Amino acid sequence: MLVNGQHYRTIWIKPDDPRVVQIINQHVLPHRFEIVDLTTVDEVAVAIRDMLVRGAGLIGATAGYGMYIAALNAPTGSREAFLAALEADGKTLKATRPTAINLEWAVARQLDAIRAGDTILEMIEIARQTAIAIADEDADFCRRIGEHGVALIEEISARKGGEPVNILTHCNAGWLAFVDYGTATAPIYAAHDRGIPVHVWVDETRPRNQGAQLTAWELGQHGVPHAVIADNVGGHLMQHGMVDLVITGTDRTTHTGDVANKIGTYLKALAARDNQVPFYVALPSSTFDWVTRDGVKEIPIEERNPDEVTHIQGLYQGEVVQVQLTPQDSPARNYAFDVTPARLVTGLITERGICEANEASILALYPEHRQGAGGRT
Ligand code: MRU
Repeated sequence: MLVNGQHYRTIWIKPDDPRVVQIINQHVLPHRFEIVDLTTVDEVAVAIRDMLVRGAGLIGATAGYGMYIAALNAPTGSREAFLAALEADGKTLKATRPTAINLEWAVARQLDAIRAGDTILEMIEIARQTAIAIADEDADFCRRIGEHGVALIEEISARKGGEPVNILTHCNAGWLAFVDYGTATAPIYAAHDRGIPVHVWVDETRPRNQGAQLTAWELGQHGVPHAVIADNVGGHLMQHGMVDLVITGTDRTTHTGDVANKIGTYLKALAARDNQVPFYVALPSSTFDWVTRDGVKEIPIEERNPDEVTHIQGLYQGEVVQVQLTPQDSPARNYAFDVTPARLVTGLITERGICEANEASILALYPEHRQGAGGRT
Protein backbone atom coordinates (compact mmCIF):
# COMPACT_ATOMS: atom_id res chain seq x y z
CA MET A 1 0.00 0.00 0.00
CA LEU A 2 0.98 3.63 -0.22
CA VAL A 3 3.26 5.66 2.06
CA ASN A 4 3.61 9.22 0.80
CA GLY A 5 2.59 7.95 -2.63
CA GLN A 6 5.22 5.17 -2.71
CA HIS A 7 4.28 1.48 -2.60
CA TYR A 8 5.52 -0.51 0.41
CA ARG A 9 5.03 -3.92 1.86
CA THR A 10 5.54 -4.41 5.59
CA ILE A 11 8.51 -6.79 5.30
CA TRP A 12 11.09 -7.60 2.64
CA ILE A 13 14.66 -8.80 2.05
CA LYS A 14 17.05 -5.84 1.68
CA PRO A 15 17.61 -5.48 -2.08
CA ASP A 16 21.41 -5.08 -1.88
CA ASP A 17 22.02 -7.47 1.04
CA PRO A 18 20.13 -10.79 1.08
CA ARG A 19 21.26 -11.50 4.66
CA VAL A 20 19.18 -8.61 5.98
CA VAL A 21 15.39 -8.52 6.41
CA GLN A 22 13.78 -5.09 6.66
CA ILE A 23 10.59 -4.06 8.46
CA ILE A 24 8.66 -0.87 9.15
CA ASN A 25 8.94 -0.01 12.86
CA GLN A 26 5.29 0.20 13.90
CA HIS A 27 6.28 1.33 17.39
CA VAL A 28 6.87 4.87 16.24
CA LEU A 29 4.10 5.21 13.65
CA PRO A 30 2.30 7.46 12.87
CA HIS A 31 4.83 10.00 14.10
CA ARG A 32 7.94 8.62 12.40
CA PHE A 33 8.41 6.34 9.39
CA GLU A 34 11.41 4.21 10.24
CA ILE A 35 12.83 1.08 8.60
CA VAL A 36 14.66 -1.43 10.82
CA ASP A 37 17.18 -4.11 9.77
CA LEU A 38 16.89 -7.63 11.22
CA THR A 39 19.90 -9.95 11.01
CA THR A 40 19.58 -12.33 13.97
CA VAL A 41 16.82 -14.53 15.39
CA ASP A 42 17.01 -12.61 18.67
CA GLU A 43 16.33 -9.37 16.81
CA VAL A 44 13.37 -10.99 15.05
CA ALA A 45 11.99 -12.30 18.36
CA VAL A 46 12.29 -8.87 19.98
CA ALA A 47 10.64 -7.23 16.95
CA ILE A 48 7.64 -9.56 17.32
CA ARG A 49 7.44 -9.50 21.13
CA ASP A 50 7.85 -5.73 21.45
CA MET A 51 5.48 -5.20 18.51
CA LEU A 52 7.72 -3.40 16.05
CA VAL A 53 5.83 -5.79 13.80
CA ARG A 54 2.40 -7.00 14.80
CA GLY A 55 -0.90 -8.28 13.46
CA ALA A 56 -1.70 -11.88 12.63
CA GLY A 57 -0.42 -12.07 9.04
CA LEU A 58 2.67 -9.97 9.56
CA ILE A 59 3.65 -11.93 12.66
CA GLY A 60 3.44 -15.07 10.49
CA ALA A 61 5.43 -13.51 7.66
CA THR A 62 8.05 -12.24 10.11
CA ALA A 63 8.36 -15.71 11.61
CA GLY A 64 8.83 -17.02 8.05
CA TYR A 65 11.67 -14.57 7.40
CA GLY A 66 12.94 -15.24 10.94
CA MET A 67 13.42 -18.89 10.03
CA TYR A 68 15.35 -17.80 6.92
CA ILE A 69 17.61 -15.71 9.17
CA ALA A 70 17.92 -18.73 11.47
CA ALA A 71 19.06 -20.84 8.51
CA LEU A 72 21.65 -18.23 7.51
CA ASN A 73 23.09 -18.24 11.03
CA ALA A 74 22.81 -21.95 11.92
CA PRO A 75 25.93 -24.14 12.37
CA THR A 76 26.88 -25.87 9.12
CA GLY A 77 28.98 -28.74 10.58
CA SER A 78 26.30 -31.37 10.09
CA ARG A 79 22.70 -31.67 8.92
CA GLU A 80 21.64 -32.70 12.46
CA ALA A 81 23.28 -29.66 14.12
CA PHE A 82 21.82 -27.36 11.46
CA LEU A 83 18.27 -28.69 11.91
CA ALA A 84 18.56 -28.77 15.73
CA ALA A 85 19.49 -25.06 15.72
CA LEU A 86 16.55 -24.28 13.47
CA GLU A 87 14.14 -26.17 15.69
CA ALA A 88 15.42 -24.27 18.75
CA ASP A 89 15.06 -20.96 16.91
CA GLY A 90 11.54 -21.94 15.86
CA LYS A 91 10.67 -22.48 19.54
CA THR A 92 12.11 -19.08 20.43
CA LEU A 93 10.00 -17.40 17.76
CA LYS A 94 6.82 -19.28 18.70
CA ALA A 95 7.19 -18.24 22.36
CA THR A 96 7.03 -14.53 21.52
CA ARG A 97 3.24 -14.18 21.17
CA PRO A 98 0.79 -16.96 22.05
CA THR A 99 -2.56 -15.93 20.54
CA ALA A 100 -1.83 -15.30 16.85
CA ILE A 101 -1.82 -18.72 15.25
CA ASN A 102 -0.05 -17.56 12.08
CA LEU A 103 3.19 -17.58 14.07
CA GLU A 104 3.27 -21.32 14.77
CA TRP A 105 1.80 -22.03 11.33
CA ALA A 106 4.67 -20.19 9.61
CA VAL A 107 7.38 -21.84 11.74
CA ALA A 108 5.91 -25.31 11.07
CA ARG A 109 5.64 -24.59 7.34
CA GLN A 110 9.27 -23.49 7.23
CA LEU A 111 10.56 -26.52 9.17
CA ASP A 112 8.60 -28.93 6.96
CA ALA A 113 9.93 -27.29 3.81
CA ILE A 114 13.54 -27.02 5.01
CA ARG A 115 13.74 -30.68 6.10
CA ALA A 116 13.09 -31.68 2.48
CA GLY A 117 16.44 -30.18 1.38
CA ASP A 118 19.47 -32.41 0.77
CA THR A 119 22.37 -30.09 1.47
CA ILE A 120 22.69 -27.20 3.90
CA LEU A 121 23.02 -24.72 1.04
CA GLU A 122 19.86 -26.12 -0.46
CA MET A 123 18.05 -25.87 2.89
CA ILE A 124 19.04 -22.20 3.25
CA GLU A 125 17.70 -21.51 -0.24
CA ILE A 126 14.46 -23.35 0.60
CA ALA A 127 14.10 -21.19 3.74
CA ARG A 128 14.53 -18.03 1.63
CA GLN A 129 12.00 -19.16 -0.96
CA THR A 130 9.50 -20.30 1.67
CA ALA A 131 9.73 -16.96 3.52
CA ILE A 132 8.99 -15.14 0.28
CA ALA A 133 6.18 -17.58 -0.57
CA ILE A 134 4.53 -17.04 2.85
CA ALA A 135 4.68 -13.26 2.37
CA ASP A 136 3.47 -13.36 -1.25
CA GLU A 137 0.64 -15.69 -0.34
CA ASP A 138 -0.41 -13.43 2.53
CA ALA A 139 -0.57 -10.42 0.19
CA ASP A 140 -2.44 -12.39 -2.47
CA PHE A 141 -4.96 -13.80 0.03
CA CYS A 142 -5.63 -10.33 1.46
CA ARG A 143 -6.20 -8.96 -2.05
CA ARG A 144 -8.72 -11.75 -2.68
CA ILE A 145 -10.43 -11.06 0.68
CA GLY A 146 -10.93 -7.53 -0.64
CA GLU A 147 -12.49 -8.83 -3.84
CA HIS A 148 -14.98 -11.01 -1.96
CA GLY A 149 -15.74 -8.50 0.79
CA VAL A 150 -16.36 -5.55 -1.49
CA ALA A 151 -19.66 -7.17 -2.56
CA LEU A 152 -21.04 -6.57 0.95
CA ILE A 153 -20.19 -2.88 0.75
CA GLU A 154 -21.54 -2.59 -2.79
CA GLU A 155 -24.85 -4.04 -1.71
CA ILE A 156 -25.23 -1.63 1.22
CA SER A 157 -24.18 1.28 -0.99
CA ALA A 158 -26.88 0.40 -3.53
CA ARG A 159 -29.46 0.15 -0.74
CA LYS A 160 -28.42 3.59 0.55
CA GLY A 161 -28.65 5.13 -2.91
CA GLY A 162 -24.92 5.89 -3.02
CA GLU A 163 -24.74 7.57 0.41
CA PRO A 164 -21.43 6.76 2.16
CA VAL A 165 -21.33 3.30 3.73
CA ASN A 166 -20.28 3.61 7.38
CA ILE A 167 -17.98 0.79 8.44
CA LEU A 168 -16.69 0.33 11.96
CA THR A 169 -13.40 -1.47 12.55
CA HIS A 170 -11.44 -2.36 15.65
CA CYS A 171 -7.67 -2.40 16.16
CA ASN A 172 -5.54 -2.62 13.02
CA ALA A 173 -6.36 -5.37 10.60
CA GLY A 174 -4.98 -3.20 7.83
CA TRP A 175 -1.99 -3.71 5.57
CA LEU A 176 0.33 -2.95 8.50
CA ALA A 177 -0.99 -6.09 10.20
CA PHE A 178 -0.28 -8.20 7.11
CA VAL A 179 2.11 -7.96 4.18
CA ASP A 180 -0.19 -5.85 2.00
CA TYR A 181 -3.89 -4.76 1.73
CA GLY A 182 -4.89 -6.07 5.19
CA THR A 183 -7.97 -8.14 5.92
CA ALA A 184 -10.68 -5.93 7.44
CA THR A 185 -9.42 -3.03 5.33
CA ALA A 186 -9.09 -4.93 2.04
CA PRO A 187 -12.81 -4.66 1.14
CA ILE A 188 -12.73 -1.02 2.23
CA TYR A 189 -9.75 -0.19 -0.02
CA ALA A 190 -11.37 -2.12 -2.86
CA ALA A 191 -14.64 -0.17 -2.45
CA HIS A 192 -12.83 3.17 -2.22
CA ASP A 193 -10.77 2.36 -5.32
CA ARG A 194 -13.99 1.53 -7.22
CA GLY A 195 -15.46 4.91 -6.32
CA ILE A 196 -17.98 3.59 -3.76
CA PRO A 197 -18.25 6.22 -1.01
CA VAL A 198 -17.16 4.77 2.33
CA HIS A 199 -16.50 6.23 5.74
CA VAL A 200 -14.67 4.31 8.46
CA TRP A 201 -15.21 4.59 12.21
CA VAL A 202 -11.80 3.73 13.66
CA ASP A 203 -11.88 2.41 17.26
CA GLU A 204 -8.84 3.85 19.03
CA THR A 205 -8.19 0.39 20.58
CA ARG A 206 -6.69 0.87 23.99
CA PRO A 207 -4.27 0.10 25.44
CA ARG A 208 -1.83 0.28 22.51
CA ASN A 209 -4.06 2.35 20.25
CA GLN A 210 -3.45 0.41 17.04
CA GLY A 211 -6.64 1.95 15.63
CA ALA A 212 -5.82 5.56 16.48
CA GLN A 213 -2.18 5.24 15.49
CA LEU A 214 -2.02 2.69 12.68
CA THR A 215 -5.43 2.23 11.05
CA ALA A 216 -6.05 5.98 10.95
CA TRP A 217 -2.59 6.53 9.45
CA GLU A 218 -2.91 3.94 6.72
CA LEU A 219 -6.47 4.96 5.76
CA GLY A 220 -5.25 8.55 5.58
CA GLN A 221 -2.30 7.55 3.38
CA HIS A 222 -4.76 5.92 0.96
CA GLY A 223 -7.23 8.82 1.10
CA VAL A 224 -10.08 6.88 2.73
CA PRO A 225 -12.47 9.11 4.75
CA HIS A 226 -12.44 8.10 8.42
CA ALA A 227 -12.84 9.33 12.00
CA VAL A 228 -11.12 8.00 15.11
CA ILE A 229 -13.49 7.29 17.99
CA ALA A 230 -12.94 6.32 21.60
CA ASP A 231 -13.41 2.63 22.19
CA ASN A 232 -16.76 2.97 23.93
CA VAL A 233 -18.50 4.99 21.19
CA GLY A 234 -19.45 2.16 18.82
CA GLY A 235 -22.60 1.10 20.69
CA HIS A 236 -23.96 4.64 20.64
CA LEU A 237 -23.29 4.99 16.90
CA MET A 238 -25.03 1.69 16.21
CA GLN A 239 -28.11 2.70 18.21
CA HIS A 240 -28.39 5.80 16.02
CA GLY A 241 -28.06 4.04 12.66
CA MET A 242 -24.58 5.44 12.07
CA VAL A 243 -22.89 2.07 11.44
CA ASP A 244 -23.90 0.00 8.41
CA LEU A 245 -21.36 -2.75 8.81
CA VAL A 246 -18.64 -3.91 11.23
CA ILE A 247 -15.57 -5.62 9.80
CA THR A 248 -12.75 -6.75 12.06
CA GLY A 249 -9.72 -8.97 11.65
CA THR A 250 -8.80 -11.91 13.84
CA ASP A 251 -5.67 -13.39 15.35
CA ARG A 252 -7.11 -16.91 15.48
CA THR A 253 -10.49 -18.30 14.45
CA THR A 254 -11.48 -21.83 15.34
CA HIS A 255 -12.86 -24.09 12.61
CA THR A 256 -16.11 -23.88 14.60
CA GLY A 257 -16.25 -20.10 14.04
CA ASP A 258 -15.16 -18.57 17.37
CA VAL A 259 -13.08 -15.45 16.75
CA ALA A 260 -10.13 -14.32 18.86
CA ASN A 261 -9.33 -10.70 18.16
CA LYS A 262 -8.04 -7.59 19.90
CA ILE A 263 -9.56 -6.96 23.31
CA GLY A 264 -12.90 -5.17 23.01
CA THR A 265 -14.04 -6.94 19.86
CA TYR A 266 -16.57 -9.06 21.80
CA LEU A 267 -18.31 -5.96 23.15
CA LYS A 268 -18.63 -4.57 19.60
CA ALA A 269 -20.15 -7.85 18.46
CA LEU A 270 -22.69 -7.71 21.30
CA ALA A 271 -23.65 -4.16 20.40
CA ALA A 272 -23.88 -5.08 16.72
CA ARG A 273 -26.21 -8.00 17.47
CA ASP A 274 -28.41 -5.82 19.68
CA ASN A 275 -28.74 -3.29 16.85
CA GLN A 276 -29.00 -5.71 13.90
CA VAL A 277 -25.73 -4.43 12.42
CA PRO A 278 -23.92 -7.11 10.35
CA PHE A 279 -20.67 -8.15 12.03
CA TYR A 280 -18.11 -9.70 9.65
CA VAL A 281 -14.63 -11.00 10.34
CA ALA A 282 -12.01 -11.08 7.56
CA LEU A 283 -9.19 -13.63 7.61
CA PRO A 284 -6.83 -15.64 5.43
CA SER A 285 -6.88 -19.43 5.88
CA SER A 286 -3.55 -19.25 7.77
CA THR A 287 -5.50 -17.76 10.70
CA PHE A 288 -7.88 -20.73 11.10
CA ASP A 289 -7.20 -23.05 14.01
CA TRP A 290 -8.13 -26.49 12.69
CA VAL A 291 -7.72 -28.16 16.08
CA THR A 292 -9.44 -26.05 18.72
CA ARG A 293 -13.23 -26.37 18.99
CA ASP A 294 -14.15 -24.03 21.85
CA GLY A 295 -12.47 -20.66 21.36
CA VAL A 296 -13.60 -19.11 24.65
CA LYS A 297 -12.27 -21.97 26.75
CA GLU A 298 -9.26 -23.06 24.74
CA ILE A 299 -7.57 -20.18 22.91
CA PRO A 300 -4.61 -18.89 24.95
CA ILE A 301 -5.05 -15.19 25.63
CA GLU A 302 -1.84 -13.19 25.79
CA GLU A 303 -1.47 -11.05 28.91
CA ARG A 304 0.96 -8.23 28.22
CA ASN A 305 2.92 -5.80 30.33
CA PRO A 306 0.57 -3.63 32.48
CA ASP A 307 2.69 -0.61 31.52
CA GLU A 308 0.69 -0.54 28.27
CA VAL A 309 -2.41 0.24 30.38
CA THR A 310 -0.83 2.57 32.92
CA HIS A 311 1.03 4.61 30.30
CA ILE A 312 0.20 6.08 26.94
CA GLN A 313 2.50 6.93 24.04
CA GLY A 314 2.32 10.02 21.87
CA LEU A 315 4.22 12.88 20.27
CA TYR A 316 5.55 15.62 22.56
CA GLN A 317 7.66 18.42 21.17
CA GLY A 318 8.75 16.30 18.24
CA GLU A 319 9.68 13.24 20.32
CA VAL A 320 7.70 10.00 20.73
CA VAL A 321 7.28 9.76 24.52
CA GLN A 322 5.31 7.81 27.11
CA VAL A 323 3.38 9.44 29.92
CA GLN A 324 1.77 7.91 33.00
CA LEU A 325 -2.06 7.84 33.11
CA THR A 326 -2.86 6.07 36.36
CA PRO A 327 -1.94 6.59 40.01
CA GLN A 328 1.64 5.43 40.57
CA ASP A 329 0.62 2.53 42.81
CA SER A 330 -2.56 1.28 41.10
CA PRO A 331 -2.03 -2.20 39.71
CA ALA A 332 -3.26 -2.88 36.17
CA ARG A 333 -3.98 -5.96 34.07
CA ASN A 334 -3.50 -6.14 30.33
CA TYR A 335 -5.45 -8.86 28.52
CA ALA A 336 -4.62 -8.39 24.85
CA PHE A 337 -7.40 -10.39 23.16
CA ASP A 338 -10.93 -11.67 23.68
CA VAL A 339 -13.02 -14.29 21.95
CA THR A 340 -16.27 -13.50 20.16
CA PRO A 341 -18.45 -16.64 20.04
CA ALA A 342 -19.46 -17.79 16.56
CA ARG A 343 -23.15 -17.08 17.24
CA LEU A 344 -22.42 -13.31 17.21
CA VAL A 345 -20.55 -13.39 13.88
CA THR A 346 -22.60 -12.75 10.72
CA GLY A 347 -19.97 -14.19 8.42
CA LEU A 348 -16.30 -14.78 7.65
CA ILE A 349 -14.64 -13.16 4.63
CA THR A 350 -11.83 -15.43 3.43
CA GLU A 351 -9.64 -15.65 0.34
CA ARG A 352 -12.00 -18.36 -0.97
CA GLY A 353 -15.22 -16.44 -0.39
CA ILE A 354 -17.66 -15.58 2.37
CA CYS A 355 -19.01 -18.26 4.68
CA GLU A 356 -20.99 -18.54 7.89
CA ALA A 357 -19.11 -18.80 11.16
CA ASN A 358 -19.78 -22.48 11.75
CA GLU A 359 -17.93 -25.73 11.19
CA ALA A 360 -20.00 -26.97 8.24
CA SER A 361 -19.75 -23.73 6.33
CA ILE A 362 -16.01 -23.28 7.01
CA LEU A 363 -15.20 -26.87 6.03
CA ALA A 364 -17.29 -26.51 2.87
CA LEU A 365 -14.83 -23.79 1.81
CA TYR A 366 -11.79 -25.75 3.05
CA PRO A 367 -12.67 -29.42 2.42
CA GLU A 368 -9.00 -30.44 2.64
CA HIS A 369 -9.22 -29.86 6.41
CA ARG A 370 -12.18 -32.21 6.93
CA GLN A 371 -9.87 -35.04 8.00
CA GLY A 372 -7.68 -33.13 10.43
CA ALA A 373 -10.30 -30.76 11.92
CA GLY A 374 -10.69 -31.31 15.64
CA GLY A 375 -7.77 -33.74 15.77
CA ARG A 376 -4.36 -33.03 17.23
CA THR A 377 -2.63 -32.61 13.87
O1 MRU B 1 -1.62 -7.18 19.31
P1 MRU B 1 -1.64 -6.98 17.83
O2 MRU B 1 -1.59 -5.57 17.38
O3 MRU B 1 -0.65 -7.87 17.11
O4 MRU B 1 -3.07 -7.52 17.52
C1 MRU B 1 -3.41 -7.99 16.33
C2 MRU B 1 -4.36 -7.09 15.73
O5 MRU B 1 -3.96 -6.17 15.09
C3 MRU B 1 -5.76 -7.28 15.88
O6 MRU B 1 -6.20 -8.10 16.84
C4 MRU B 1 -6.32 -7.49 14.52
O7 MRU B 1 -7.62 -7.08 14.50
C5 MRU B 1 -6.20 -8.91 14.07
S1 MRU B 1 -5.95 -9.05 12.43
C6 MRU B 1 -4.30 -8.84 12.26
